[in-house]
Amino acid sequence: MTLSGIDVTNGASPDDVVVTVGGQQALDLIARVFIDPGDVVLAEGPSYVGALGVFQAAEADVVHVAMDGDGIIPEALEAAIAAVAAAGKRAKFLYTVPAYQNPAGVTLTNQRRDLLLAICERAGLLVVEDDPYGLLGFDTDPLPALRSRSRDNVIYVSTFSKTFAPGLRVGWILAPHAVREKLVIASEAQILCPSAFAQAAVSAYIEKMPWQQQLKTFRETYRERRDAALSALTDLMPDGTTWTVPAGGFYIWLTLPTGLHSKEMLPRAIAERVAYVPGTGFYADGSGAAHLRLSYCFPAPDRIREGVRRLGTVIEQEVALRSTFGLA
Ligand SMILES: Cc1ncc(COP(=O)(O)O)c(C=O)c1O
Repeated sequence: MTLSGIDVTNGASPDDVVVTVGGQQALDLIARVFIDPGDVVLAEGPSYVGALGVFQAAEADVVHVAMDGDGIIPEALEAAIAAVAAAGKRAKFLYTVPAYQNPAGVTLTNQRRDLLLAICERAGLLVVEDDPYGLLGFDTDPLPALRSRSRDNVIYVSTFSKTFAPGLRVGWILAPHAVREKLVIASEAQILCPSAFAQAAVSAYIEKMPWQQQLKTFRETYRERRDAALSALTDLMPDGTTWTVPAGGFYIWLTLPTGLHSKEMLPRAIAERVAYVPGTGFYADGSGAAHLRLSYCFPAPDRIREGVRRLGTVIEQEVALRSTFGLA
């Protein structure tokens, strides 16, 4: 199968697949196989909180690599690799969610995908590509995955949680052969085998149901909700607040006016009956207080607008409080 002229399967075979209990177990297995206590892992900043939990449980030293609206910044990646080398270490892998990232909502551009792979190959650095949202783009075809451009240097992880049903807990890893064997042994030690019943449900769904049509419906629903969130933010957020514009997936990353702290502000937001995830959860070092993650995947558009209105009021009150106490 080709996409933008690239063979997206790139020689993948069923023998290279490890079926897992969702994407989360996939990340846990990779951490168990690759990480010894004290090892360095490079990860986007901000990063998916569940991956950070797994890396922390494996006692990894997570070094974040900065992103902008186009995904990981290649120069920042090179600088991080050099800094780790200068400390006499070598990172075990780079963890990235290149498409419609959780939590930042940004997507690694085509050009940067090639650059990132070239940098990692030069440094002998394995890439762990976590791709739960790749099929949930709103405006264009998905960009070919990193795995489709590099067969040997990328471990690819995905899941049916966002495109079929999260409760079934079916995910998978596509890994180079030698790595795959180790992952299977680690998985057997952990769970013996994933649920055959859940896999049969996924298999029947793909064989018998119009899943591509269903994906189209999901994409339309989420695009409508993304649009509702973006227009509400534009209309209702106070000055000094900025946010990312996702081209797919579930999330918007919001930056608060200077001086505000998303975690400290959360109780006030909850009192107003609106919730978000503070940015600090997405950094291993607890930074990220100036940011928060909004998810638009579940509420209907009118609820999204009301939620943004309430959040805007909370932010305005925080700004006013800071200026009253001379903190602005
Ligand atoms: C980036 C990312 N990876 C992995 C997962 C976990 O997926 P699953 O629910 O299949 O375990 C999630 C879930 O939110 C996610 O956002």
